Amino acid sequence: MDSGNLSGRNTLGLKAQADRVVLITDGVQLEPALTEARPFGPITVLGGGSNVVMHPVQPGTVLLMNILGRELRADDGHRVILRVGAGENWHELVLWCHHHGLHGLANLALIPGSVGAAPIQNIGAYGVEVSQFIRAVHVMDRETLATQVLAPESCQFRYRDSCFKHEEGAQWIITAVDFQLDRNAPVCLEYPALKERLSAADPTHDAVLAGVMSLRQEKLPDPVVTPNVGSFFKNPVLSQEEGDALRNNASGVPLFAGPEGGVKVPAAWLIDQLGWRGVEKQGVKVSDAHALVLVGCGAQTAEPWLTLAADIVASVESAFGLTLELEPRVLGHPQQIAS
Ligand code: EPU
Repeated sequence: MDSGNLSGRNTLGLKAQADRVVLITDGVQLEPALTEARPFGPITVLGGGSNVVMHPVQPGTVLLMNILGRELRADDGHRVILRVGAGENWHELVLWCHHHGLHGLANLALIPGSVGAAPIQNIGAYGVEVSQFIRAVHVMDRETLATQVLAPESCQFRYRDSCFKHEEGAQWIITAVDFQLDRNAPVCLEYPALKERLSAADPTHDAVLAGVMSLRQEKLPDPVVTPNVGSFFKNPVLSQEEGDALRNNASGVPLFAGPEGGVKVPAAWLIDQLGWRGVEKQGVKVSDAHALVLVGCGAQTAEPWLTLAADIVASVESAFGLTLELEPRVLGHPQQIAS
């Protein structure tokens, strides 16, 4: 069992202490770890800690998911099925696939976090969502300890959402993910900002990877250097009619195609209109480079992050009648720890 200090295990660098922390490096360790953890209260699974806001007190047991491994399960010379351990680093996987000529994931380069966290959020960027490549998610039920292989339909993937974020999937702990990749896949240039970045008419996968990485590095701070979780809010998804109504009191709002014929409203635009960019309160700041990103400049606990986020949500609600949802998960209890 590890020390309960989680301060180095979340990209906001927040002070947090768990009763128990257990490192899981192999799938076979999970069943005994869950059985042992039962008397100690709730069980929280942590991957890279790059999309969580941790309160100081994490009751019960935190399982640090560090199961590694990449295994080619099928290969028809064109398409492959790759099984990847939940603890693998996401960006390293993207680079490894690219260098082995297995295409599909380049638009998702530089997203912080682990492979096991990717399906939970259905991570997405530059016109691609990870669910497009997932063929199976391997899970263990934290109550019954039964293992299961979930088909993509069972995961209920949506924009930044899946069953794993809701009651119906909360019992599952992800141990590995199967991806289908393609040696002959075309590049994906649907996202206008990416297309503009690439000057060649027919860009290569190398050019797309480099383009995505340069775009991200310009707009999104590196969590190793600057505390952040990427986007702090989700982009609201509206029906076409709701989008038209929004245009009446948010003149010039850019709307993007959303799921099921709806529209996606860039929350960054709404926040920007209200003058939040660059605003700093209690050691947390709205990034100068991107209004959807909050960055840490001294805050050591979750509270100032959640307070600034709540102020932004209230201001957007009162100006535009839209309720922004937080993108990261909030974990634990807000009691202070003695320093
Ligand atoms: N915009 C502003 N002000 C800003 C930034 C953007 O007005 O400060 C407006 C512009 O109109 C721009 C539009 O917002 O055209 C969209 O901006 P951007 O292309 O940066 O994308 P986003 O919707 O803000 C989403 C994802 C990002 C992902 C990018 C690129 C969500 C919550 N965020 O951001 O994902 O990298 O698209 O695909 O969907 C993350 O989830 O942590 C994340 C960084």
